[in-house]
Amino acid sequence: MVGDVYENVGKLIDVGELAFRTLTSLIGNMVWGSEIQGEQRTIVESQFKKIFAEIMVFLGKPNISDIFPSIAWFDIQGIERGMKKIRQSFNEFLDSVIEERMKKETGEQKSDVLQMLLDLHKNQDSPSSLTMNQIKGILVNIVVAGTDTTSDSTEWAMSELMQHPEIMEKVKKELNDVIGVIKETFRLHPVLPLLVPRCSARSLTVGGYTIPKGSRVFLNTWSIHRDPNIWDNPMEFQPERFLNEPGKLDFRGNDFRYLPFGSGRRKCPGINLGEKMLSFILASLLHSFEWKLPQVEKVDLSGKFGIIMGKKNPLHLTPTPRLTNLELYKRKS
Ligand code: HEM
Repeated sequence: MVGDVYENVGKLIDVGELAFRTLTSLIGNMVWGSEIQGEQRTIVESQFKKIFAEIMVFLGKPNISDIFPSIAWFDIQGIERGMKKIRQSFNEFLDSVIEERMKKETGEQKSDVLQMLLDLHKNQDSPSSLTMNQIKGILVNIVVAGTDTTSDSTEWAMSELMQHPEIMEKVKKELNDVIGVIKETFRLHPVLPLLVPRCSARSLTVGGYTIPKGSRVFLNTWSIHRDPNIWDNPMEFQPERFLNEPGKLDFRGNDFRYLPFGSGRRKCPGINLGEKMLSFILASLLHSFEWKLPQVEKVDLSGKFGIIMGKKNPLHLTPTPRLTNLELYKRKS
């Protein structure tokens, strides 16, 4: 990533796109290793961005068919048709990756997620055996949930830092403070503002409202994170609120005032990976480059509606090198 930015010093860079490419490559290595390389890799990474953006919009759209199931077969908004088209392109891609791996199975043993799942598939008698469809579902789940979330958070964090140069200066001097910036970005811009919908197992009353058994319940972390009864100056970007008391308000789902990764059984299984990737990407970008806004005075901080809330308008910045040893910018092959 640093080598890539260095080759584009002085030009405008789309920060969200840069982070997305880095993450698809990182998650891709973890999930299907070196199966996809060279030109195919570039094609896959650029297609993913477009496909993921479409998935997020479809997943976030209120679907009339859910409210009136009797007319679901009309699919008035075309949501089901759209998702089926996306499934088709994912299916073809995953079929080719799996086929390639099966061909090589006799050779060198791989140790990535794909291999682990295929080993479970081979063991048909085991209760944890998986069908090919389940394998594909898990692969899509990891790739979709692991990339956009972290790249959107990177873009939000960089946007807030560009809007607050005094915080940017402080963070560059003391990179340990990056964690405060990340926690505050999670608070103001939770990328999944409505957690995965829950279903109430029994009827109950919450805050005077009856929630009948079987209701679909949406938890709005976006509004919890901006609630003035919980947070001082909730609309202000203030990483110090986390830095002054580091142990307070962890994001592992135990404190219901702060749930950027959700809570309970369905909470994010990628917490450690997401937090580490985000810290690493942000710290590398801040440590290696100075960033400048193009002649705009204020960063646009509006969000885009979808199940994952990214920025409405991409953040474009111009980098200049910060390190004196230019060897450090060279790409590692
Ligand atoms: C900044 C990074 C990330 C953020 C903010 C984030 C946030 C979330 C949130 C809020 C949920 C819903 C939890 C709930 O409803 O209680 C979720 C679910 C999920 N996340 Fe993440 N996530 C991130 C990174 C990742 C990564 C890196 C992976 C995997 C590689 C991942 C995999 C998943 C999966 C598979 C689910 C669905 C879990 C389920 O439904 O049981 N996430 N994430």
